[in-house]
Amino acid sequence: MIFNNISEAEKDPILGLTEEFKSDLNPKKINLSVGVYQDNDGNTPTLPSVIEAEKEILDQNISKTYKPIDGDKEFTEKSIQLVAGETIFSEIKKTSFGLNTPGGTGALRLTSDFLFQFSSKSKVWISNPSWPNHKPIFEASGFKVDTYPYFNNESNSIDFDNLISTIKKIPKGDVLVMHGCCHNPTGEDLKGDQWDEVSDIAKSNNLLVICDFAYQGLADSLDDDAAGVRKMLQNLDNLIICTSYSKNFGLYSERVGCLIYNSKFGSNYAPVLSHMKKTARSNYSNPPAHGSEIVKFILSHDSLRDKWEKDLSNIRDRIKNMRSLLARELKNERSSKDFSFIERQKGMFSYTGLSKEQVDALKKNYSIYIVNSGRINIAGITTHNSKYIAKAINEVI
Ligand code: LMR
Repeated sequence: MIFNNISEAEKDPILGLTEEFKSDLNPKKINLSVGVYQDNDGNTPTLPSVIEAEKEILDQNISKTYKPIDGDKEFTEKSIQLVAGETIFSEIKKTSFGLNTPGGTGALRLTSDFLFQFSSKSKVWISNPSWPNHKPIFEASGFKVDTYPYFNNESNSIDFDNLISTIKKIPKGDVLVMHGCCHNPTGEDLKGDQWDEVSDIAKSNNLLVICDFAYQGLADSLDDDAAGVRKMLQNLDNLIICTSYSKNFGLYSERVGCLIYNSKFGSNYAPVLSHMKKTARSNYSNPPAHGSEIVKFILSHDSLRDKWEKDLSNIRDRIKNMRSLLARELKNERSSKDFSFIERQKGMFSYTGLSKEQVDALKKNYSIYIVNSGRINIAGITTHNSKYIAKAINEVI
């Protein structure tokens, strides 16, 4: 019988830790694992702009009938506009489409399932390190996954020369996964010219770029964070962008994201869309609506959009303050390691360089939960727990 031959699967490297955290009885426990924003009291409040939009939507008594397979047109158009900015949006309006997906993960999985039907021999290349769910997503569709170098642990910065020399050797027709901003887990992003260099190689070697863009607005600003993605939109003949509204709208549990495809000459638009819709239909049928209604409502009303941008800048500012605070506390501890790079890294995460043993010791001795790679969620740090965290890190190293 099939069920008798199934052994237990490994716990998820990120969400599994939150399960463990919940059952930890230590009152001092701190969860710095999953990428979820917390305020200075450790809560994850719904954004005020989102609550306001939800009230308005409720009053409109919107029908709960099914959405189209690719989602609501106004939502997908607003999503492309947010990513591309006004100028590029006007250029790509007729050559791009969006599909509303269940979160950014849904967009990645849909992309992967779609691509495997037409290019099963291609390999998918992800950064080393990368978000731990990238590999399982592409493998689940059937792809082989390999890595390109991304990070130098000694200098705590991007290993750009090795990245370039590896992607130059990637066979034509393979798939290259990039992080649009706030690289997860390192917090180190490519700079201006580096994006050009990568997209030039992708173009001349006929690589398909998938850009995972889940943190727009969490690093510097909505426009600054999109600079790399916008360069790729202008440089590449084909580009897939997988966006998420989990972090920048705080809509984690609503599962709202968008798969954006741009075909520079517009010629692939209709066939690609038709097969993506077919793939979505046999997977989740059509997208959940509540989250996308909220995003659409906020992005279509100027005063609410201003409020949302303010909410987002509050999130960004608190994360930046917590970076400075933790770096300062670690310096006060006279730690043997220089942690000043924490202030320089971008977005929700910092890549501390802590080893697996040190990560285990943080959990066992201090009930501080961080991902095995040494990634910490900066948004889980508060003015109340920063000293405790710095002390504990100093002890384990
Ligand atoms: C994370 O990296 O912690 C988030 O993107 C949440 C997730 O789904 O893993």
